[in-house]
Amino acid sequence: MNKISIKLAAYFTIAVFIMEGLLMLYLHDNIIDVRIQEEFQSILSRGNSHRDVLEDRYSTTTLHHIALMESKTETEVVITDKNHHVIISSKKLTKGMRELIDESPRSLPRGGRVIESNWKDMNYLATVTAFEKDGNEGYVFMFKSASPLRNLISKLNGHFLLAGIMSLIILAGIHFLLSKMLTRPLIRMKRATEELSKGNFEVKLPHLGKDELGELATSIKTLANDLETIQHDRSEFLATISHELRTPLTYVLGYTNVSLRDEIPESERKEYLTIIQEESKTIVTLIDNLFELAKIDENNFSIHQEEIQSLPYFHKIIKKITPAFKSREMDLILSVKDPFSFHADPIRLEQIIMNLLDNSLKYSKPGSTTTVIVRPHGTGGLGLTINDQGIGIPADELPKVFNRLHRVEKSRSREFGGSGLGLSIVKELVEAHGGNISIESEPEKGTSINIIM
Ligand SMILES: Nc1ncnc2c1ncn2[C@@H]1O[C@H](COP(=O)(O)OP(=O)(O)OP(=O)(O)O)[C@@H](O)[C@H]1O
Ligand SMILES: [Mg+2]
Repeated sequence: MNKISIKLAAYFTIAVFIMEGLLMLYLHDNIIDVRIQEEFQSILSRGNSHRDVLEDRYSTTTLHHIALMESKTETEVVITDKNHHVIISSKKLTKGMRELIDESPRSLPRGGRVIESNWKDMNYLATVTAFEKDGNEGYVFMFKSASPLRNLISKLNGHFLLAGIMSLIILAGIHFLLSKMLTRPLIRMKRATEELSKGNFEVKLPHLGKDELGELATSIKTLANDLETIQHDRSEFLATISHELRTPLTYVLGYTNVSLRDEIPESERKEYLTIIQEESKTIVTLIDNLFELAKIDENNFSIHQEEIQSLPYFHKIIKKITPAFKSREMDLILSVKDPFSFHADPIRLEQIIMNLLDNSLKYSKPGSTTTVIVRPHGTGGLGLTINDQGIGIPADELPKVFNRLHRVEKSRSREFGGSGLGLSIVKELVEAHGGNISIESEPEKGTSINIIM
């Protein structure tokens, strides 16, 4: 299985295992080493003390005394002359002992030396010390059976093995707990995301503190809330759209039924057909705008910025829309202090201005004046303000006018065929340029829209 918790716990366990293994190996070797050194040291110093006694008073009695003393202990002593001829021994010499004595070096340091240290294979550990006093020269050989040391070390090995097995079991336990500790919150989060994908946004996750897992849990909760909001917005949006479409379609259906009647006069039928035409136009515009927004939402549209010369560009747009203002007996003024150039997508910017001027046109009374003020902003940027003397927007409605399908006075703007999408499209377009839009308005005085991009 590829579970991350198991992997992590395994890395940890292996690391601890290697560390512990090395530590135990080091400890094991050191303990044994020290033990062996002690053993040698003890027989060597025993041999040395025999040497001291012999050098002090060399006599047959002393020799016998030493041999007798050693025969009661675990060690054996063999005293030879300088030619390695045995003078006395505490025990009958074995072949191995004899060989060791024969092979022993003649010249020795004062403290003596070890002549057999192979405790693993040989029967005896052995040391030799030389003595010399008043012409009495010779060697004191000390032997000690290696098997007690071997027993001790094998016992020690047994203990180490036991400790090793125990720590393996404990490690396995830690491994298990660790992987559980890591897995449990992960499994809960996995379940939570599965619930989310099923559309159940009521995710419950434990408080996991401030570590990465805790942060992940918080992110999942945020995601759940966001998804819930999005889903709520979407269903509300769909409900509004259906409502928006139903109204003109009801008119279309109603007037079509009336027009189909045979008995109505031709002039009346024309009037009804005109209404049907108007309503159909509204539907088409609404659908076009919705499509535009859908494209923006999908990030399926791009901004192609170009360098634009302010004067010709704005003159052309104003010229295009002036007839509409004139027909409503309204004035439209363009104010550009000094000609300048800026960067923007010319088609999208025209769409922005047309939408805003369309609002000023729709929501102002005849005789009023609308002013378009343009100025450079920063390097290559544009500042645009549109002031009208229209009906204005109440303060509590201001924050909502950029919402999709939001209209201040449903009945009034229906008169003008408004669907409440214009400003939301404008806002998206301005933001796609990396710009900002703000609105100020006072009822019965007018509205001012300010764009920086
Ligand atoms: N210049 C303005 N003066 C007064 N009210 C305005 C002005 N601009 C917008 N509004 C109000 O804000 C609402 C939203 O404007 P928006 O342009 O988004 O929608 P619309 O004009 O109703 O419809 P559409 O622009 O989609 O044809 C409008 O319905 C209107 O009530
Ligand atoms: Mg509008």
